[in-house]
Amino acid sequence: MIYKNILITGATGFIGKHLVNELSKPEFKKKYNFISFVRKPVKEHFILGSLEDKNSLLIATKDIDCVIHLAGETRSSKKDLNYMTNVTGTKNLIEACQENKIKRLIFCGTVNADLNKRGVYGESKRQAEELVKNSYLDYVILKLGLVYGPGDNQLSKTIALIKKLPVIPIIGDGTKKIQPVYVEDVVGVILACLEIRNFKKRIYNISGPHPITFNDYIQVVLDSLNLKRMKIHIPIFLIKSFLFLTGRAFEHIITLEIVDSIEQNKDVDISDAQEDLSFKPKEFKDMVRFLISKKKM
Ligand SMILES: NC(=O)c1ccc[n+]([C@@H]2O[C@H](COP(=O)([O-])OP(=O)(O)OC[C@H]3O[C@@H](n4cnc5c(N)ncnc54)[C@H](OP(=O)(O)O)[C@@H]3O)[C@@H](O)[C@H]2O)c1
Repeated sequence: MIYKNILITGATGFIGKHLVNELSKPEFKKKYNFISFVRKPVKEHFILGSLEDKNSLLIATKDIDCVIHLAGETRSSKKDLNYMTNVTGTKNLIEACQENKIKRLIFCGTVNADLNKRGVYGESKRQAEELVKNSYLDYVILKLGLVYGPGDNQLSKTIALIKKLPVIPIIGDGTKKIQPVYVEDVVGVILACLEIRNFKKRIYNISGPHPITFNDYIQVVLDSLNLKRMKIHIPIFLIKSFLFLTGRAFEHIITLEIVDSIEQNKDVDISDAQEDLSFKPKEFKDMVRFLISKKKM
């Protein structure tokens, strides 16, 4: 074990909470001292600050061996906010690391950064990734697929919606591929990164074991809930015309960016992570059935 003092940005987010939970277990508490970099006080050891406030980052990164950078803007479609948080925020963090002579960074990127139509979020995460790649740091970039699990922002909404709706609307033909990954598998891989002796500028795709189509995704939820529902496929051009005409009125539900994202395949090769990090992601079907049966989602 080489990294003892760990700073976690984004500790209050979906993935961050699961990571903190794991690191709070006695076996990890013995190994690591972790500090959460947060905008609001939390129970565990924390430093208050924000990615826009370089001074707070300078204080937070003092005497740290490795930074796990999870903080990011993931929910807003506002361009300024995405760039400020994801690009400028990452730049500020890298500069603070440099001033405090920290060498190691684990950065959570996204498969969306490699899409042809990336949208504001994907583009800002791509630029953040470039900043990390062009920095002096010994980094590991984890390019995450859709992460699901208790407290998530996507699968839990799908489950809630499917329970309510008598008919399931699916955008497009539902044949595009996704590769959802269970949040505990992501946490496991972050912990595995902390154990790498020589991590020097590595990039790994972190997604589920196999690609599935969006139709499969919906069917897995229906089967796990023991529900039968009719599905209707809504042509992409209809949704886009509707969104064009209604402007931002429905952006809390759907945006052009989401539709563009749904239209693209997000299947990736995870073999490097399987080989180097002993990454063994769980099957989506098994986990969804388990989470629903245990009322965890
Ligand atoms: N979840 C996924 O499916 C997924 C997929 C691919 C990549 N990722 C990446 O994984 C990382 C974590 O994702 P997540 O799902 O856990 O995100 P999340 O639930 O939206 O959490 C975002 C975290 O970032 C913090 N944050 C946002 N703006 C900040 C700022 N200006 N200064 C300091 N902290 C700030 C938030 O703090 P507050 O609590 O104060 O708001 C929160 O802790 C992100 O970088 C995301 O791009 C996630």
